[in-house]
This record gives sequence, structure tokens and C-alpha cells, in this order.
Amino acid sequence: MENYRIYLTEEEIPTHYYNLRADMKKKPAPLLNPGTMQPMTAEELAGVFCEELVAQELDNDTRYIEIPEEIREYYKIYRPSPVIRAYNLEKQLGTPAAIYFKFEGNNTSGSHKLNSAAAQAYYAKKQGLKGVTTETGAGQWGTAMSMACAHFGLECRVFMVKGSYEQKPFRREVMRTYGADVFASPSDTTQVGRTLLEQFPGTSGSLGCAISEAVPVCSRQCAQPGTAASERDRSGGIYGAQKDRGEAGHHNRMYRRRLKSGRTHRAVHGRKTQRRKRLQIHCR
Ligand SMILES: Cc1ncc(COP(=O)(O)O)c(C=O)c1O
Repeated sequence: MENYRIYLTEEEIPTHYYNLRADMKKKPAPLLNPGTMQPMTAEELAGVFCEELVAQELDNDTRYIEIPEEIREYYKIYRPSPVIRAYNLEKQLGTPAAIYFKFEGNNTSGSHKLNSAAAQAYYAKKQGLKGVTTETGAGQWGTAMSMACAHFGLECRVFMVKGSYEQKPFRREVMRTYGADVFASPSDTTQVGRTLLEQFPGTSGSLGCAISEAVPVCSRQCAQPGTAASERDRSGGIYGAQKDRGEAGHHNRMYRRRLKSGRTHRAVHGRKTQRRKRLQIHCR
């Protein structure tokens, strides 16, 4: 009998990220500023990403980037994830190649996205940022970001594609359980959302639309469609200026209230209340 799985030990979890760009002869095309169509500068990217991530994003030379210990500790919760030999696929293809795939479903987000979300939250926290605003489609990315923010002590705001928000209530509530504010996108909390709702009242939204809501929330400088957007901690700033509105705002407020009082609904398991002590495992 062949062995299918390879498991590393915890001690063998990698200590460095491998920056593929260092070994690419032809470098990837630069990110373009949609306003000028010119390659984005570090300063422009800093309107959306935190500084360390901008430096890594633009780094063409450093082959290995050390993973901070706090992130490695967090990875230990759900890694190492197994590498599995795809014998049946090899047989079907009739190939002499050995094919492996990595199973990354071994965490609450259900995907590899937590690997990146943990780093994004860590660097944002280290920079002194207050929270992260992002978008999600099916919900894995939003869940990953909510989990990472809860762990590193950041606020998290997620614009979730409306169709998915309605069809996948458990995903939505998992994010809220981790302390995130979740809005169906398009929402009435942003100018972009309000404009879209006015023009297309029945729309179920899209990832592009959710990104378009998330980015201006955290940055007025540039409109780089992308991943987690970090919010600067300024008083009277974006968080202070925005109020939760509509149904999503109501649910987010109720959740915060329940978390404060130590009682919350457990939608997934059908139990009505849960002690704060247990919630502290997951929430800020
Ligand atoms: C930043 C970001 N947002 C959204 C998505 C879409 O994933 P999901 O449907 O889980 O939100 C991805 C997928 O990789 C992503 O990287």
C-alpha cells in the first residue's frame, strides 16, 4: 500500500516566506494606478496596504523573508497542513509525473487564506493601525480576515457580496462571532453602495462592487482594488464618521452588545447563549 499523506512536524513549519519574484527572470507586471495607469508607487500603495506589506509587494530581490514568530505561533493552531499524493489523478492522466496537492481546509476559514490574513493582520497591528476593511465573495477570505483580526486585536469590517450574504448566513455569522462588522454589498453605508443601489435596486452585488465599497472606506488617496485594506487610527476618522445603518448595522450592533454582556446566539449549534469565557477564545 502506498502512503498518500506527508505531514511535517510543528518544528518543521517553514520559518521564511519564499518570495518567488526573486527567482523570476521576467518580473510580474506592476500594479497600475487606475487613475494614471502608471505603476503604483510605495506611497500610493500605502493608502491601502500597511507599510511592511507594500515593501514585500515591491520586493524583487529578497528570496526569503523571515516569518515573525507571532505569526508562526498562530500558524501552529492549524498547520502543518498535509501534502497528499494524487495517485488517482496521475493514473487518469497516464503521466509519469508525481502529483501532490496541499490540503488547506483544516481551519475555520476552510482555506489557505488564513495564512495570508494572519500576516496582514499582524503587520497592520504592528504598524499601530486600528482595523482592517476588506471584501468577501463566498466568505472564506472574510472569515480568514475576521479570525486573524480577532487574534491580533484589530477591528474588522467586511463588505460581503449581497447574494452570498443572503445565501450563506452561517458564513456571515461566523465572521460576526469573530467580532467583525459585516455588511451586505452594495450597502447603504458608502457612496458607491448607495449609487449602485439606486441604479440597480435588485442587484445581488459582486466582488468588484464589494471591493469598491471597501477601498474608499479606508483610503481616499487611491483606489487600488485589492486585498485587506488597513485603517489608520485617527480620531474622528473613518470608523468614527460612519454609523452602522440598516439591517446589517442592526445585527452588528446586537452582536457587539451580546459580546459585551457575555451572551450571544449560537446560530450554528442552535444553543441560545454562550458564556463570555468561551467566546474569549475567538473574540477580542
Ligand atoms: C482579497 C480576496 N478577496 C476575496 C477573495 C474571494 O474569496 P472569497 O469568496 O472567499 O471572499 C479572494 C480570493 O482569493 C481574495 O484573495
